[in-house]
Amino acid sequence: APNAVLFAPMLPGKVALVTGAARGIGLATAERLAQEGATVICADVPAASRELDALCSRIGGMPLELDIAAQDAAGQLAALLVERFGGVDIVVHNAGITRDKTLGKMDGGAWDAVLNVNFAAIAAIDRALLSGRVLRDEGRIVCLSSISGVAGNFGQTNYAATKAALIGYVAALAPAVAARGITVNAVAPGFIETAMVAKMPFMTRELGRRLNSVQQGGLPRDVAELITFLCTPGAHGITGNTIRVCGQGLI
Ligand code: NAI
Repeated sequence: APNAVLFAPMLPGKVALVTGAARGIGLATAERLAQEGATVICADVPAASRELDALCSRIGGMPLELDIAAQDAAGQLAALLVERFGGVDIVVHNAGITRDKTLGKMDGGAWDAVLNVNFAAIAAIDRALLSGRVLRDEGRIVCLSSISGVAGNFGQTNYAATKAALIGYVAALAPAVAARGITVNAVAPGFIETAMVAKMPFMTRELGRRLNSVQQGGLPRDVAELITFLCTPGAHGITGNTIRVCGQGLI
């Protein structure tokens, strides 16, 4: 049928890693990539193993219990990807945490935890995947930045700093890997309805919803759509960028 061409999956044969895949934006992204024919390795902390198993049996993916901030997580991950799949084509750095407090009240543990998970762990994983050429040619790296990294957000100095850092990170890494056809981008969502924002103060949450360009809280699927597009072969000319999605209409 002529329409079969239109609906052919865009990522057949590709191996994709999504961190923080047990729920929220990561889960929606894993589902969306699988829908395009990718084999998805769904990584999350051991405490989320039940959700991971349920997701993977639904999408035919591979569950992986991995705290990305653990000692030598990057090395173990690289070794596993080589052993099981011979490498990886798509890496979505989605896992992220918040530990909100005004800076004067924020203890060092909360500062370090957010910097480690949201930024240091990502760079460590990319170093391991790039140095051993585990990430194959024509590969795709997508980082989850945030509107908070562009515009700031009350009580989120640590979180905003990591999300802003990723904007510079993708811009700097992109030209260094362009010769191999690898693209490196970030997406910067506005307020998205997930467990992460459920713990925000009421006023912050309502403001996020009302300022959103889609006139309500965005959905994980809205972000997954952009991430998936950036991972397609046709997006090979887009690199080094941070693209906003469901952002605040005014900024
Ligand atoms: P979420 O809190 O609903 O899900 C995050 C997932 O990451 C959880 O399953 C969690 O267990 C996992 N995770 C946390 N630490 C981990 C670690 N050390 N190793 C492996 N997995 C870990 O979060 P949500 O809302 O889905 O956010 C996903 C990403 O999008 C985060 O990076 C977040 O900062 C970013 N983002 C979210 C926005 C929102 O409004 N929800 C807006 C902008 C960015």
